Amino acid sequence: MQKILSLLKNHNDWRENCVNLIASENVMSPFCEKYYISDLMHRYAEGLPFERYYQGLEYVDEMEDLTQEKFKKHFNANFVDIRPISGTSANMAVFSALAERGDSILSLGIQGGSHVSHEKAGAAGILGLKSFNLGFDGETMTIDLEKSEKKILEIKPKFIVIGGSVILFPQPIKELRKICDQVGAKIIYDAAHVFGLITAGFFQDPLEEGVDIITSSTHKTFPGPQGGIILGNIEEGLQKKIQDKVFPGVLSNHHLHCTPPLYFALEEMERFGKDYVSQILKNSKALAGQLNDLGFDILGKEKGFTESHQVVANVEKQGRGDFVAKKLEEANIILNKNIISGDSANPNKPKGIRLGVQEMTRYGMKEEEMKIIAELIKEVILDGKDIEIMKEKVAEFRKNFQEVKYCLNESELSS
Ligand SMILES: Cc1ncc(COP(=O)(O)O)c(C=O)c1O
Repeated sequence: MQKILSLLKNHNDWRENCVNLIASENVMSPFCEKYYISDLMHRYAEGLPFERYYQGLEYVDEMEDLTQEKFKKHFNANFVDIRPISGTSANMAVFSALAERGDSILSLGIQGGSHVSHEKAGAAGILGLKSFNLGFDGETMTIDLEKSEKKILEIKPKFIVIGGSVILFPQPIKELRKICDQVGAKIIYDAAHVFGLITAGFFQDPLEEGVDIITSSTHKTFPGPQGGIILGNIEEGLQKKIQDKVFPGVLSNHHLHCTPPLYFALEEMERFGKDYVSQILKNSKALAGQLNDLGFDILGKEKGFTESHQVVANVEKQGRGDFVAKKLEEANIILNKNIISGDSANPNKPKGIRLGVQEMTRYGMKEEEMKIIAELIKEVILDGKDIEIMKEKVAEFRKNFQEVKYCLNESELSS
């Protein structure tokens, strides 16, 4: 027991001393954390609110219903399901509602930034779907419409899935809508990474631009509890089909204790999201620009590097993504190696690294701090400075950024 306790303490202490730049992570506010732990985490609620298979859910039903209604209103959607316990399970449910074993789908492919759940190795493959790739331009880091049109008309997929794990710029939804309509293909937008940016109104609104369904995680740029969500403006038959795929298809119970903090996280984004996300966007541009000036090969250069929370670099010349990510970890800078366009298929030896500024922004960092982070990265990777000294330097820098900003506090409960 002592071993686990000390490992947990070590982890917590360490991450407090780190600059955390994993693009798929965030922290909940203390307010959300407080209401994350409750009796709800012991309970079961199979089925839909007010139509459960178990007793004891009078209050749970109402909380789930209120939360779904809040998301519907915010996103102008006629359908929301907050039961998926992750972005992947949201994808599983939607993919299986829209296509059957043997059907073809089109995704961006890992090199174009898609998530593994869109691919043969992940959810799509497990469901027996044949996953082909849309066109992607690694220079501009955007969807190649001409190539994509050809593929869509040739393959006639049941659906295409866009959005993605590497996403620097908005995608051409309106154009893709017109093409997909020619072959009756649905469009799914996997917003896992940019959900917070969309929530605050600082990224393309996929539903408004014409996608059928959004799937997402609830814990990346959207700072909620770890979970998944499905939103859409779809007919009742498809709504029912998706609900049946969530339960009893993909899940039995969902994680009831996530409901209150999910509601509160949306409330936080409604109150503070514009400030939070506009700072995220200033920060990612500042970090990208400074890294570029210091000699790193930052992708998306000709389009201003990024319009999301992410920055992506080709670090092949500095020893490849795996080496750079490991070296930075030794100096308390946490990010991940990442496959980029034109990479080999080996995910363990990619050319790229991916950085996300959403978590450090939530701790109050601004453009000045992004420049310091770029400098710290340069000192570790380009200057080869002593790792122990750099580790201390990073920990010292992080000391002033320990409090989560842009969040609710107890005194606001009455308002
Ligand atoms: C685009 C995208 N979709 C889905 C997922 C999976 O989300 P989860 O980890 O919640 O299953 C990820 C994970 O990072 C992602 O980047």
